[in-house]
Amino acid sequence: MRVRVQLPQIHRYDVFTASSADVVRAAEALLPDNWLRSPGWRAIERDDVTGIDIGREGYGPMALSYLAQGHKGIGIFVGDDLAALGWYIRNEGRRCRRYGYYPLRQGAVWLHADWVAPAYRGRGLHQLLIAYRALLTQQRYGDTPLEANVDTQAAPASGHNYRKLGFVRTARLGVLRWHRPLVVWKRGAEQDVQ
Ligand SMILES: CC(C)(COP(=O)(O)OP(=O)(O)OC[C@H]1O[C@@H](n2cnc3c(N)ncnc32)[C@H](O)[C@@H]1OP(=O)(O)O)[C@@H](O)C(=O)NCCC(=O)NCCS
Repeated sequence: MRVRVQLPQIHRYDVFTASSADVVRAAEALLPDNWLRSPGWRAIERDDVTGIDIGREGYGPMALSYLAQGHKGIGIFVGDDLAALGWYIRNEGRRCRRYGYYPLRQGAVWLHADWVAPAYRGRGLHQLLIAYRALLTQQRYGDTPLEANVDTQAAPASGHNYRKLGFVRTARLGVLRWHRPLVVWKRGAEQDVQ
């Protein structure tokens, strides 16, 4: 019998920040005219993610746990396919609070777990996912700081998309994991370190 030993790992991310109003303005200027009226996007519900397979192992259970914790999911559907999925949550408390591994400033909204199913990549769906969450944040809470952490080495297209929609890199995040996040550090949180 082979025993798999999991070693501690450090994950490093760039933290991108923008105001929801700026992202909506950028989306209006950059995205196709019909981006808002597209019928294929809506809030994700339990039934959407129960047992889903969108090409990423473990995404279904993770999505269910996000819903249970009050995160909001946005899906983009192409026909019956869930083609893209992203999550957001606002820290409504009075101080910085951790959501999973991510330390989120008071009042800010964290955009996270962005995913486009492999068959639908390269069609602009990720840029739409970012824009829809900015718009919904803006409608619900007014102009609000948005944060997203991206492993730009592993997902350069994601970093490109956040920058394209007006985000700037304002911090770096490190997470030491061993089965679960053990130590988290976020540096440069308030200044632009681009
Ligand atoms: C990263 C990911 C979300 C991108 O989704 P997508 O729908 O294919 O992205 P889009 O079609 O909206 O955007 C592609 C953009 O990235 C650009 N791009 C593609 N490869 C790139 C690269 N290596 N470096 C920089 N930019 C790149 C494209 O030119 C395009 O930009 P443009 O419209 O300005 O020309 C998707 O590949 C994915 O789900 N990957 C696995 C999960 C993941 O990494 N999630 C990100 C977590 S933050």
